[in-house]
Amino acid sequence: MKKIKKIACIGAGYVGGPTMSVIAQKNVDVEVTVVDLNVARIAAWNDGDLNHLPVYEPGLDDVIKEARGRNLFFSTDVDKAIKEADMIFISVNTPTKTYGKGKGQAADLKFIELCARQIAAVATSDKIVVEKSTLPVRTAEALKSILDNTGNGVNFDILSNPEFLAEGTAVSDLHNPDRVLIGGEDAEAIEALVQVYEAWVPRERILTTNLWSSELSKLVANAFLAQRVSSINAISELCEVTGANVDEVARAIGQDSRIGSKFLKASVGFGGSCFQKDILNLVYIARSYNLTAVADYWEQVISLNDHQKSRFAEKIIQTMYNTVNGKQIAFLGWAFKKDTNDTRESAAIYVADHLLDEEATVIIYDPKVSAEQIYKDLDYLGTRSAEDNRRLVKVVESHHDAVKGAHAIAILTEWDEFKGYDWQQIKNGMKKPSFVFDGRKILNKKQLVNLGFDYYSIGE
Ligand code: UDX
Ligand code: ADP
Repeated sequence: MKKIKKIACIGAGYVGGPTMSVIAQKNVDVEVTVVDLNVARIAAWNDGDLNHLPVYEPGLDDVIKEARGRNLFFSTDVDKAIKEADMIFISVNTPTKTYGKGKGQAADLKFIELCARQIAAVATSDKIVVEKSTLPVRTAEALKSILDNTGNGVNFDILSNPEFLAEGTAVSDLHNPDRVLIGGEDAEAIEALVQVYEAWVPRERILTTNLWSSELSKLVANAFLAQRVSSINAISELCEVTGANVDEVARAIGQDSRIGSKFLKASVGFGGSCFQKDILNLVYIARSYNLTAVADYWEQVISLNDHQKSRFAEKIIQTMYNTVNGKQIAFLGWAFKKDTNDTRESAAIYVADHLLDEEATVIIYDPKVSAEQIYKDLDYLGTRSAEDNRRLVKVVESHHDAVKGAHAIAILTEWDEFKGYDWQQIKNGMKKPSFVFDGRKILNKKQLVNLGFDYYSIGE
């Protein structure tokens, strides 16, 4: 049995960076090199000031401090890392296609294919290639075919090892995973990867399956989680009209051990790089096998999520006397959830877009997201010109600057610090009536109402 000595990871993003950092932390005798084409990103991973890491994750700085320079390295020399490694993780992004067949649904595999071709061109010894990116089912087959047909005659074993970490809790999820999933055909290759994880994960939590089960399980896990959020969000709308309270309903049903209490928090809508993309993938695969009923069923999870986002924006407009034109609306939060600087598919983007269509002035404060990123997110939608986005949207560095003189406050991310603000002082500085729209249900309704706010929360 071959013991892995050197690991390379292609892609130093939200998945590759934290995952490899923990693998290196726990396997002192394995040299781990994370490579990326993005020079600025690699420079940031190597920055002496750990506040400048490209990915914000609680606890990640300590892991990096321990392993970086010891057996964890970040580099732009992709070829060298490939050549030297026994095991190569592919952890590049697989966004939804924005062109051609499957546009808006299928995963864009061009980055994966480029990686495979590069590995095939450079490798001069046998490699175990591990899919870490979320991929449509049977991608491993395509990967294998590229590697075998364009390579230098060396042997490639392909494994699927999907990532289940959630952003904002990546380090603790990696340290203490519910399970690690490894799919593959070759027993020795599987065992080599099992050994890497066994350095800290109990053997019974390491599941091995065939390749296709592993690839599909990742999509299905995310689809089930997203479905719970859409289910409770659907009920939130019903609560608003019937006088029930969605938190009370969630508590009541969550006590049933068959249902469970997690992932029942009604919100302005789910975001993140995975949920929507993975469901779209699932839907696309089902359609390509002519499974229309299956595709339609899962597609509803996304439709409901879109509905929840626009419903929240409409609620703001309606409540503010059917016009937000020229009114100042303060956004607290822009990230898709707390404790991350990631904004991919964040509900905030779509709520802002809706309000900007109505010519509102939106002032945004997020503790971890940069102004540059926020404008990029809005420009990417292509709804209006970049100039108009900059005319209507202001990004500020403190919550004081966002709420001062505002007609309304909208909570888009559940950052803990929002709860501790001096809401009396905020109220004093706002226009009257002072509206709060709590898209995350984090504030104390009684307290805010007592202070004289007009407080609206999802699902009550
Ligand atoms: C998810 C999966 O949890 C993870 O296993 C997978 O590897 C990647 O996708 P992530 O996208 O990082 O992780 O975040 P997650 O915590 O799952 O939240 C996704 C979205 O759902 C967020 O916008 C969150 O705010 C929202 N959400 C989650 C709710 O609105 N209510 C809930 O009860 C839970
Ligand atoms: P994820 O959330 O899946 O980690 P990210 O977008 O955060 O996605 O990270 C993916 C990284 O992969 C990016 O930093 C990108 O520059 C990198 N990448 C994409 N294609 C290649 C490639 N062929 N070689 C090296 N790095 C790549």
